[in-house]
Amino acid sequence: MTSVATPNSPTPPAPPAAIPLANSDSTPARRPSPRRFVMCRPDHFAVFYAINPWMNPAEPVDRALAIAQWETLRAVYEQHGHQVDLVPGEPGLPDMVFAANSGLAYGGRVMSARFTHPERAAEGPAYHQWFAQRGFTEVVAAQETNEGEGDFIRVGQRILAATGFRSSVPAHREVEHYFGRPVVSLELVDPRFYHLDTALMALDEDNIAYFPAAFSPDSRAILSALYPEAIVATDADAVVLGLNGVSDGYHVFLSDRAHHLQEALRANGYQPVGLDLSELLRAGGGVKCCTLELHD
Ligand code: ARG
Repeated sequence: MTSVATPNSPTPPAPPAAIPLANSDSTPARRPSPRRFVMCRPDHFAVFYAINPWMNPAEPVDRALAIAQWETLRAVYEQHGHQVDLVPGEPGLPDMVFAANSGLAYGGRVMSARFTHPERAAEGPAYHQWFAQRGFTEVVAAQETNEGEGDFIRVGQRILAATGFRSSVPAHREVEHYFGRPVVSLELVDPRFYHLDTALMALDEDNIAYFPAAFSPDSRAILSALYPEAIVATDADAVVLGLNGVSDGYHVFLSDRAHHLQEALRANGYQPVGLDLSELLRAGGGVKCCTLELHD
């Protein structure tokens, strides 16, 4: 017999309120953890040389806009509970804003970068000097060509490292030896994705997002074996440097133009935070390039 509700029948108990879940049943809960970042305000930002295909010295850049976009990124990090230390920029070093390239910092020890191109060479000692005054346990300068977190990405205990355009294979070995962590060498093959952080980002201790076509076939095989659950980015995501992002384990700070990648992150339980760094993209840089992480 079907029961029909009449004005006199008791109100059936309300179903339990739906709890909004960021994750579907199959995705683990994601947790943010507070991070320490180093950034350099683009006070001297310009494009007056070209060392990657994104840079065109004939096109003017709007430095004030670059500064405003960068300030938004810094504020967003702080609003999400992350600490930002500032390195002063230096005149004549227009790419110094890309703090990710300044070195590697793990467990209080720092290796400052050694740049590939003479145009950026002076950034190595400039950043080194800053690190040396910050009370780290030890600060050494890389002996081999090493563009810091541009080419070295920590995923849990492992460090993924790239070669092909900037950092060298001997630099991978130097990092492995100095920090005592396993380094996996990968080869980049597309000049638009000249640093590892333009083609791959760490999402948490276990997983990554990446653009396979930026890597050699051997490196693709390594990545798919190590990270079967990785988020695979589309061409459209990659060409806006959508993979040049920073994750705190839950929030993923990345280009607001990387639409597919943002969807994929959401579907995997992460919270994308879109940012417009269009003016810095004229130098081939994005969110991650502007951010060095001081890892525990
Ligand atoms: N113009 C700079 C260069 O070519 C951009 C560096 C971007 N940094 C990065 N981590 N991908 O070196």
